[in-house]
Amino acid sequence: MTNIPKHIAIIMDGNGRWASKRNLPRIVGHQQGVKAVRTVVKACGAMGVNTLTLFAFSSENKNRSSEEVSLLFKLFLTVLKLEVKKLNKHSVRLKIIGDLSLFPDDVQTIAREAQAQLADNTGLTLVIAANYGGQWDIAQAAKQAAQAAIKGDISPEDLTIEGFSKYLSLANEPAVDLLIRSSGELRISNFLLWDVAYSEFYFTDTLWPDFDEAELNIAIESFNHRDRRFGARKET
Ligand code: IPE
Ligand code: IPE
Ligand code: MG
Repeated sequence: MTNIPKHIAIIMDGNGRWASKRNLPRIVGHQQGVKAVRTVVKACGAMGVNTLTLFAFSSENKNRSSEEVSLLFKLFLTVLKLEVKKLNKHSVRLKIIGDLSLFPDDVQTIAREAQAQLADNTGLTLVIAANYGGQWDIAQAAKQAAQAAIKGDISPEDLTIEGFSKYLSLANEPAVDLLIRSSGELRISNFLLWDVAYSEFYFTDTLWPDFDEAELNIAIESFNHRDRRFGARKET
C-alpha cells in the first residue's frame, strides 16, 4: 500500500530554462509552470495529501530584472483571480506565507480575499510561499516571540522547540514529509529551513513546466522506499 506523505513541499524550479530552450521569453515558462501547479494541486487533493506547500517566489527573487518581477506579480494576480472558484469547488484551503508587503496593493488585496474565501474548506491545504525565505520566517517568529515576552504573555522558558514553532508560518501544518525540487539544482535556496528538519528530499532533472502527475507519483514512490529512522534504531 502506498504511504501518502501528509505534507509535500515543492521548489518549482526551471521555468526560465524551459522557455530559453524554446527561444521564448522567461514569462512563458512561468505561465507554463502554472499548468503544472494545477496538475499537482489536483493530484495531491485526489490522493489525500493534507498540505502542499509551493515555493512561488523567494525573498531573493526580487533581485531579478524589474520586468520579470512585475510580470510575475501580474501572473500571480491573474492566477489567484481565476483559480479561486475552482479551488473552492475542490474544497481547497489556501494559505499564503511570506512578506507580502513587497507586493503591489491589488495583489495583497486579492491574496487576503482569496484566503478568507477559502478559509473554511476542509480539503487539501495549499500553502503558497511568496516573497518567502526560511531565514525570514525564523527571524519573524523570533520577533513575535520577543514581543510576546515583553508583553508578559510568555516567559523565555516557554520558547521550547514546540513553543517557538508556534510563531512560524507553518505552525499549524504537519511537518514536511517530502521535499521535491525540479530542474536538477541540488540546494534549498532559502526555502523552508526549520520545517524540513526530517523531510525526505527528492530531486529531479525535469523542468517545472514538464512536471506532471507521473513525476509526482515517481517522487512518492521514492518516498515510500525511504527508511525514516528519525535518529532512532529498531531494537533487534
Ligand atoms: C522558478 O523558475 C520560478 C521562480 C523562481 C519564480 P526559474 O525562473 O528559477 O527558472 P530557471 O531556474 O531560471 O530555469
Ligand atoms: C528558488 O529558485 C525559488 C523558487 C523556485 C520560487 P531560484 O531559481 O530562485 O533559486 P536559485 O537562484 O537557483 O538558488
Ligand atoms: Mg531557478
